[in-house]
Amino acid sequence: MLFKGDPMKAIVQTVYGSPDVLQLAEVSLPRVPDNGVLVKVHATSVNAGDWYLMRGSPFFVRLMFGGLRKPKIPTLGMDVAGTVAAVGRSVTQFKPGDAVFGDTSEAGFGGFAEYVCAPESTFVHKPNQISFAAAGTVPVAAVTALQGLRDCGHIQPGQTVLINGASSGVGTFAVQLAKAFGAEVHALCSTEKMPIVRQLGADQVIDYRQTDITQTSVQYDLIFDAAAYRSVFHYFSILKPQGTYVLVGGSIGRLLRLMLFGGLISRLRPQTIKVLSVKPNQADLLVLCDLLAAGKIKPAIDRTYSLSEVPIAIRELEQRQVTGKIAIVI
Ligand SMILES: NC(=O)c1ccc[n+]([C@@H]2O[C@H](COP(=O)([O-])OP(=O)(O)OC[C@H]3O[C@@H](n4cnc5c(N)ncnc54)[C@H](OP(=O)(O)O)[C@@H]3O)[C@@H](O)[C@H]2O)c1
Repeated sequence: MLFKGDPMKAIVQTVYGSPDVLQLAEVSLPRVPDNGVLVKVHATSVNAGDWYLMRGSPFFVRLMFGGLRKPKIPTLGMDVAGTVAAVGRSVTQFKPGDAVFGDTSEAGFGGFAEYVCAPESTFVHKPNQISFAAAGTVPVAAVTALQGLRDCGHIQPGQTVLINGASSGVGTFAVQLAKAFGAEVHALCSTEKMPIVRQLGADQVIDYRQTDITQTSVQYDLIFDAAAYRSVFHYFSILKPQGTYVLVGGSIGRLLRLMLFGGLISRLRPQTIKVLSVKPNQADLLVLCDLLAAGKIKPAIDRTYSLSEVPIAIRELEQRQVTGKIAIVI
């Protein structure tokens, strides 16, 4: 039996900074509100968003999440896969013992801990076919890839799609999802990450250090950019007139500029420009559950760490040493 205030282990931070500011500490179990589900976390993962919030940089994230001088979120970690330990009085979808997974980023984060509490709308039932470790890598990265391709990109079977940043957590799901949507997929990544991206089913894997994609003759229906470190103008020559460019991730400066001016550029050019702002939701997690259960997508897990090794995992992610996802198993 668990009680509010019982101790649990969590990764906490009281100041912004490098992974050294992350400490494994004993904190109190969260309170379970009426609509809350308390989950015993079996697995989580690290995402680019975790290290932005750990550093409080770019400054924009402090404005978005509060905590101008010091972090407002004591324990980061968006992705969660685990077992329901307790439910609030008004919860209808889950009961203790259920295996669930979800994205806690709209519920105060907290995945880097032994327990996390979030509204029931955060979670869905985990498919039996996948492990907790695999499920813990899915919510943020795969929902981002899904919404970028389907909702912003309106991806169609037979289209030729370019995934930039194909080796990232988001990109590795985007490659597989674009294939599942029936597209011809070309993937851009760094040299050493090419074999894994090829294994994910990309029709062509291109090393951006060797090939300037804009000097090739292929014309794309959709460019999904998870590593936008070059201007959108760079890509217009390889985007069909009726094509769509979707900015998903990369430089925050480019993201903000395109949020401000993307509409104007779209009016001046035939191509469509979109900036994704992911919206976690149960319906999209359920779409992913079907694809995972059918084996149509599979998390690309590069390595696995324990809770106390979260700082190592975030450091490696920041240093671009990871292909796909790191699973944190608790
Ligand atoms: N729009 C949204 O709502 C939304 C939601 C979630 C995530 N995102 C964004 O999507 C992006 C991918 O997220 P993620 O968690 O999948 O990232 P990640 O796993 O950390 O992958 C980042 C990868 O991008 C590539 N890259 C190319 N140029 C880079 C550069 N100059 N600096 C750093 N990385 C570079 C690297 O792969 P190579 O070695 O192959 O170059 C790197 O491994 C991030 O920018 C994240 O903020 C956006």
